[in-house]
Amino acid sequence: MGVSEKNLKCPITDDATIKPSYQVVNGIKICGGFIADHFIQALNYRARDDDIFIATYPKCGTTWTQQIVYLLLNKGTPPADAAEYFKKNPFLDMLGTDSVINMPRPGAIKTHLPFHLVPYNACAKYIVVVRNPKDALVSFYHHTKGIPGYKFASGTFDAFFECFLDGAVDYGDYFDHLTSWWNHRNDSNVIFLTYEGMKADIASAIYKIASFIDPKLEKALKKDAEFMQRVIKYSSFDYMKEQDKIVREIRYGTPSKSLDDQLIPLSVKAVIKNMAGPVSDSYAHIRKGVVNDWKNHLSKEQNDRLVQKFFEKCSGTGLIDLWQESADWI
Ligand code: PPS
Repeated sequence: MGVSEKNLKCPITDDATIKPSYQVVNGIKICGGFIADHFIQALNYRARDDDIFIATYPKCGTTWTQQIVYLLLNKGTPPADAAEYFKKNPFLDMLGTDSVINMPRPGAIKTHLPFHLVPYNACAKYIVVVRNPKDALVSFYHHTKGIPGYKFASGTFDAFFECFLDGAVDYGDYFDHLTSWWNHRNDSNVIFLTYEGMKADIASAIYKIASFIDPKLEKALKKDAEFMQRVIKYSSFDYMKEQDKIVREIRYGTPSKSLDDQLIPLSVKAVIKNMAGPVSDSYAHIRKGVVNDWKNHLSKEQNDRLVQKFFEKCSGTGLIDLWQESADWI
């Protein structure tokens, strides 16, 4: 394992004193551009028996898993346009309960809440995806820099690193979130996947998710090779990157276009307005999609401090073994 030299290609306008803009709602840090009332609704949402949640810490493979579940529930056909994408893939914490109540079912609900805050129903299903902390951090940095609601466009990696290490980012401490779900990994209504495991063997992950949602779905996939091929193709990084160009102008805001579109849900429009500005051109939600990108970002000292925090927070949990084979990260 080698730690590369720190990336020196930062634009000269970067300002090490800038911190991301957050708001604190019910004691939880969320993106400054979110709507507090929507988030409170999410915390108070009463989960239904037939709810399927995709529960992740930010940047750990949420969108990828949403796409897989969408394809499984829609015979392998991807969303036709951005309006359908938003209607059928609601992000509860950002859009509030209307987005979930109006979701055509069956569908899956995205949330970044840790176990102790997630709307819980013993009959509901929870698909949990985790990612090694260093790659999650790097992806979170690019996200925070690129999305206008954080007002961090000229922020630096080093500044974000300190926030992440302190747990002073949206949804709080990565390790607390990770252990909250890890402790429930064997519950019958939870499946626990890793981003790295999905990268290594997507077919197994797809079968696992299908069987968890409904064993009949897994059988259908095994019987119908074309169905399986469609799920693999339309959840591939390359396809999703291409598709993201279509939804990105609405996802984080090109207000003139998205606010005019009658088909975009009102809750999405409200968030776009609140974000105060379009997403930067260099930002891509479907960005690089690789394991070990941290080596291009972390200094040796940062690497050591993050590993030390991992051991402080996770020793004795068994988490040390989780990424032993799939990511070169300790
Ligand atoms: S968010 O904003 O919290 O919902 O972000 P999330 O979707 O959890 O994570 C975004 C990262 O997932 C990568 N991604 C993928 N990787 C591989 N294959 C596919 N199909 C895929 N789709 C999304 C995306 O590129 C982000 O990771 P980084 O490391 O930033 O590239």
